[in-house]
Amino acid sequence: LATALDRHLALVGFMGAGKTTLGLQVAERLGRTFVDLDREIERDLRRTIPEIFAEQGEVGFRVREQEAALATLRGGPPAVVALGGGAVNSPKIREALREHALTVYVEVEPGIAWERVQGKGRPLAQDEGSFRALYEERQPLYREAADAVARTLDDVVLAAAGVHVAIGALEQLGGLVPGGGPAALVADAHVAGIHGMDAQLALGPRLASTHTVSGKTADDLAGLWRSLGIDRAGTVVALGGGTTTDLAGFAAATYMRGVDWVAVPTTLVGQVDAAIGGKTAIDLPEAKNLVGAFHWPAGTVVDPALLATLPDAERRNGMAEVVKTGLLAGEPLWELADEELVRRCAAYKSAVCLRDPHDLGPRRALNLGHTFGHALESASGYELPHGRAVALGLLAALRLSGRDPAPVVEILAPEPVPVDRQRAWEALLRDKKGRLRIVLLGDDGAFERELPEADVRSALDELISG
Ligand SMILES: NC(=O)c1ccc[n+]([C@@H]2O[C@H](COP(=O)([O-])OP(=O)(O)OC[C@H]3O[C@@H](n4cnc5c(N)ncnc54)[C@H](O)[C@@H]3O)[C@@H](O)[C@H]2O)c1
Repeated sequence: LATALDRHLALVGFMGAGKTTLGLQVAERLGRTFVDLDREIERDLRRTIPEIFAEQGEVGFRVREQEAALATLRGGPPAVVALGGGAVNSPKIREALREHALTVYVEVEPGIAWERVQGKGRPLAQDEGSFRALYEERQPLYREAADAVARTLDDVVLAAAGVHVAIGALEQLGGLVPGGGPAALVADAHVAGIHGMDAQLALGPRLASTHTVSGKTADDLAGLWRSLGIDRAGTVVALGGGTTTDLAGFAAATYMRGVDWVAVPTTLVGQVDAAIGGKTAIDLPEAKNLVGAFHWPAGTVVDPALLATLPDAERRNGMAEVVKTGLLAGEPLWELADEELVRRCAAYKSAVCLRDPHDLGPRRALNLGHTFGHALESASGYELPHGRAVALGLLAALRLSGRDPAPVVEILAPEPVPVDRQRAWEALLRDKKGRLRIVLLGDDGAFERELPEADVRSALDELISG
């Protein structure tokens, strides 16, 4: 795995695979420019591709294509780039893809591709027999050039974020950790007893050491720093929930001024939220997540089958984030079965974070409900489970947005909690640093709005019993 964080996201694949349609959609979700190389060439030469083929032959077209592809891939801010079906024949283009892009092979059945392109005057789609032969010939080239294979929009987004979601992914871990260097496995102590052996076996000869952890304090961090024992070529592999991935990710961000890390989230919170987006942190006695870093994992390996052993209370914590994601996405994602639920939620968070890796704007939408949730958690002295706090927070956010709170009520059944009202209010003001900008939900997704103090306070009060 690798990511498209600081590089182009290139789409390769056969004609009729839908590279242009998908490319436009992905570019919109990631907030990037979309470059369709075939269209660029047509615009530059003021001729259609069939005209270029007719005038200059396929060889003439390929020369132009290589020029255009190299110029685009070697320059400019990270964009989404769709390449023509034959572009991967050029070794120079393949090399530029390796150097400057995260490349996704957009796969399609040859029959479907033929249906889409036949009769459209494409020079290389004149008859079905030679079309299918060309498909067979090019398949291996696409696979060789690509870092990932995808068919849907969500899968392209996940590939761009370096996230691999599949039942059984844990068994493939050895092959999914980028590079060839040694791996230091950092595992939640409890999870190590359940899934640790599978992870160790999957890492095979690359496994250099195993470290069990049980928290994310400065002491836990120092213990890890001192025992990791890898060099700059090594990779930290974190196996556990958000506590473990936050700790191991921050250790990786700081150890030897930064080594690669791979997240293997084992909780629902981890799979749909904590292990995605590159935020890492430890807790200090003064505040949670007070010290941290942005350090995007080189890969995130998500195996929804690992959720089978998760206690119900932990699952409920995760469902609160799932409902939040569904509300933001405008789709009842909470109704899906685990694998699809995780895939869709992980893709949603991946897109928002790729768009705003350093939390400077769009990513704030992910705080929907969290301002209230944090205030309640803090007022309870962190006795209140995170999921319950977020569920209540979502309720407040929906009420303030004037929207139907039914999904939150039906799926998460939040009950008011007996915490000190003044303490909760003070915690909310601290969290907001004096400005009452609250994330609300509108028809087109979330937005921030500064609200009158009285409205915010009464929304918070409604979440508190007694
Ligand atoms: N970095 C981020 O963007 C981000 C986002 C959300 C939360 N977080 C952080 O995540 C942390 C919470 O993480 P969490 O909710 O995943 O909980 P967690 O990591 O604390 O794990 C909760 C419990 O579940 C157990 N467990 C984990 N996986 C299991 C499995 N598959 N089977 C059985 N037991 C399992 C663990 O041993 C632990 O007891 C907080 O510290 C929070 O700050 C970070």
